[in-house]
Amino acid sequence: MSEEKLIRMDMGGISKDTVDNADVVCLGIESSCDETSAAIVDSNKNILAHIIYSQIPEHQKYGGVVPELAARAHILAVDEVIRLTLERANKTIDDIDVIAATAGPGLIGGVLVGWMAATGIANATNKPLVAVNHLEGHALVPRLCAASATDAATNINVEFPYLLMLASGGHCQILLVRGVGKYELIGQTLDDSAGEAFDKVAKMLGLGYPGGPIVDKRAKMGNAKRFNFPRPLCDKSGCDFSFSGIKTAARMILDKTPESDINDEFINDFCASFQSAVVDCITNRLHNALKDERVINASPKTMVVAGGVAKNSAIRAAMEELAIKSKMLFAAPPMNLCTDNGAMIAWAGIENYMVGNIVREPVAPRPRWPLTEL
Ligand code: KG4
Ligand code: ZN
Repeated sequence: MSEEKLIRMDMGGISKDTVDNADVVCLGIESSCDETSAAIVDSNKNILAHIIYSQIPEHQKYGGVVPELAARAHILAVDEVIRLTLERANKTIDDIDVIAATAGPGLIGGVLVGWMAATGIANATNKPLVAVNHLEGHALVPRLCAASATDAATNINVEFPYLLMLASGGHCQILLVRGVGKYELIGQTLDDSAGEAFDKVAKMLGLGYPGGPIVDKRAKMGNAKRFNFPRPLCDKSGCDFSFSGIKTAARMILDKTPESDINDEFINDFCASFQSAVVDCITNRLHNALKDERVINASPKTMVVAGGVAKNSAIRAAMEELAIKSKMLFAAPPMNLCTDNGAMIAWAGIENYMVGNIVREPVAPRPRWPLTEL
């Protein structure tokens, strides 16, 4: 495999000598976008091994994920990722109780690769197979491991029901999570996702891909009051989002600015101002969600953020502040479990297996698969 096109990340794990025997050990595989990842997680919430092959170098020169290249890179990586994960956990396939893989939503070429690998292993070994919804992977991973925004060391036990801000490259939704497979949509984006907005603004500024982490870093050094970005829908009731207006505003500011003025200070201030608009939209919509009758009746104790955008320090901090004001706990996955990863798929595999959601007949992967259709 061409190593220079992929970055291999060993996310660590714990030695099996230090682990109590767990009831269920799951091998999870993720391949829905630009990461090929596998992890072995047990029902005692131990991550025994976790390997991620990131394709970022492969797609960077195009400024975004190229689906065909992604699918080919997954094919090259998938066997090795699984082999390495087993090796790292000091396990053989016989030690695994359940196989889980993302079966959608996502780029179908990539999803097919991971899903067929999982199906092959499950069929050959006669082990139960779970078809994991990628969004459910993001939604449930805070139950595997979560911390507050300010204290990454404290592990918070996230119990159902909880109010979830799910913000990734492809999705932006507020959900009431009542249980495994039980999601109520409270609000969602009418156009772009939050991650897309970060990526597109970064692209306009020539900052590279993926944009979120770079904008986050630049925003920390900038003045959020310098540019006036709109806060779409924030003067309206409801919990839906719209980010396309923020993106258009970004384009207009840049078009009006002479190239010679676009220096580091400009970029930092621009990122800070843009990010502050996104943060305001998220807190405004969550504030409304707390007044939604379904949420009031369910009275969730915890406000949770998940998905790649949950890595954003300003979003984590603002949501924690809102949670505290609303007398709720706040929880977010650790940074390495926010963006796409195999551990969240393995954990969703365990949670689904525990409630009997296993594949009983052939499943076709789905490029679109809303959480409300579980
Ligand atoms: O969940 P994810 O890994 O993939 C999808 O399922 O879409 O999310 C990727 C998204 C990208 O849009 C990326 O720019 C964004 O998460 N992201 C961030 C940060 N880190 C990653 N957005 C804002 N701030 C960050 N620190
Ligand atoms: Zn994702």
